[in-house]
Amino acid sequence: MTTLSTETRQTALVVGASRGIGLGFVQHLLSDDRFGTVYGTYRRPEAARELLALAERFPQLRCLPMEVTAEETMAGAIAAIQARTPQLHRAVYCVGVLHDGDFQPEKSLRQISSENLVRSFQTNAVGAVLLAKHLLPLLKHDQPSVFAAISARVGSIGDNRLGGWYGYRASKAALNMLIKTAALEYARRSPNTTLALLHPGTTDTRLSEPFQRGVPPEKLFPVERTVAQLMAVMDGLGPADSGNFFSWDGTRLPW
Ligand SMILES: NC(=O)c1ccc[n+]([C@@H]2O[C@H](COP(=O)([O-])OP(=O)(O)OC[C@H]3O[C@@H](n4cnc5c(N)ncnc54)[C@H](OP(=O)(O)O)[C@@H]3O)[C@@H](O)[C@H]2O)c1
Repeated sequence: MTTLSTETRQTALVVGASRGIGLGFVQHLLSDDRFGTVYGTYRRPEAARELLALAERFPQLRCLPMEVTAEETMAGAIAAIQARTPQLHRAVYCVGVLHDGDFQPEKSLRQISSENLVRSFQTNAVGAVLLAKHLLPLLKHDQPSVFAAISARVGSIGDNRLGGWYGYRASKAALNMLIKTAALEYARRSPNTTLALLHPGTTDTRLSEPFQRGVPPEKLFPVERTVAQLMAVMDGLGPADSGNFFSWDGTRLPW
């Protein structure tokens, strides 16, 4: 196997790297010889111990604070990356919320609240398009780059047969529309960048943990498997695929 020199290695950013799929991406990227510097974002140091411990072992990992509902923290993190590098090759938005204490997915219209809907939209959808806004200068260069947002199959309007989970479903549908729209603008302004929406499959993380009963073991992926599958999907994408919604096996999902 040829070893790439530091200068020819790609740079990557993982947003929402404190745990779950995001942390898995950081671990994968650190062991992938094609990548040099990896940036990973977290909200609170006390909730990101594993990520911060990794940075002590791997000097090529740089951790940056980012709360995606506070745009100034996003601008600050991106400015810190720009101070070190003019270009990113891969960026993955892994932030998402489905439940958190009293905040639970709605089973019925009775449980709808505007506050919870806004929280789902801000975290799952708005943060990703703000990231697309701030990342354009870093993704725009003469080499291929990929910006993927982790969506969810339950955000497919055409595939919605069960109902429930109003806020999560609608925020993922909004995420899909926002990134599709950003992909059309990127095609004009940064034609070497591919934007993609990725469904990871049910993955064993804190987000899915309360809902894993009834999921057959072969359909509950360990994080490492999910990340390897999504990296393979991203590796196979080019600008002609930009703005589409893909499942973990590379197949296209209906909107
Ligand atoms: N797991 C599944 O089965 C599954 C299935 C379909 C789609 N997905 C999607 O995959 C993505 C990753 O989910 P996961 O399973 O890895 O979930 P997870 O383990 O709960 O991780 C969620 C991540 O989002 C971060 N986050 C939440 N709110 C944030 C905010 N306001 N600002 C910055 N970061 C924030 C969390 O940071 P803190 O540690 O600071 O809270 C954490 O790093 C999500 O978009 C999710 O919807 C997951």
